[in-house]
Amino acid sequence: MTINNEIQKIIEEVNRLNHKIEMVSNVKSGKEATVYKVLLDDKPVAMKVYKKPEERSFKNTGQYLMGKYYKKPSERKAVAKGNKFAKKLKYQNWVRREYFMLEKLYELGAKIPKPILHIEDVIFMEFLGNQDFVAPRLCDVSLAKNEAENAYKKVLDTMIVFWNFGIVHADLSEYNILWWNNEPYIIDFPQAIDKRTNPNADEILDRDLRNITNFFGKFIKTDFDEIKKAFS
Ligand SMILES: Nc1ncnc2c1ncn2[C@@H]1O[C@H](COP(=O)(O)OP(=O)(O)O)[C@@H](O)[C@H]1O
Ligand SMILES: [Mg+2]
Repeated sequence: MTINNEIQKIIEEVNRLNHKIEMVSNVKSGKEATVYKVLLDDKPVAMKVYKKPEERSFKNTGQYLMGKYYKKPSERKAVAKGNKFAKKLKYQNWVRREYFMLEKLYELGAKIPKPILHIEDVIFMEFLGNQDFVAPRLCDVSLAKNEAENAYKKVLDTMIVFWNFGIVHADLSEYNILWWNNEPYIIDFPQAIDKRTNPNADEILDRDLRNITNFFGKFIKTDFDEIKKAFS
């Protein structure tokens, strides 16, 4: 794959921290970030490189960043107004938040890729896939009934780990779950919210849960009201 300036800078920074890195392939380019497969210290690793703030839209982040997430009144005011300072704040926090969430949730036993290293706007985590394949998203697989039952239960268990820690993923759907070794792995956490400080937490949880019950409802019987009871 081609090594542009941005990648070259990352390689230098990784080397400076005494790690060895080799680029393997571009896995996926999205709106927010580009994910690469790399060899980090000779092991396959996923490298998520966030886009620079000027290339990103930060659409719909208002609701996630409400509440007491910004402690300083000046920061809160800036975020409410949406000025340049606010954009910088959001961007810095966004990447740091994703890594923080990955670390905490992994520690708690959630089924998510293991976080490995964080450098500025780059996150390194366990690569879901092997030599030849990248784990598909759940939206791209057709599940047998027993697979769906198992995956549904695992996703709900993981959501409950998040919830008990005080977190709602807030962008959860079959597009942010990877399917690997017959197991679902939840990914993509920067927008996750803190239920203790976000006044919309309950609605956001319902939306995540609806996405999950609707998706699995294509394969098995799911019941939103029944499931909701586990989140109290
Ligand atoms: N740990 C991983 N292992 C393998 N592929 C991954 C991993 N993390 C992300 N990807 C791939 O990169 C895509 C984008 O990652 P994601 O974290 O969802 O970022 P975004 O949706 O914000 O661009 C995913 O849909 C998936 O295909
Ligand atoms: Mg995503």
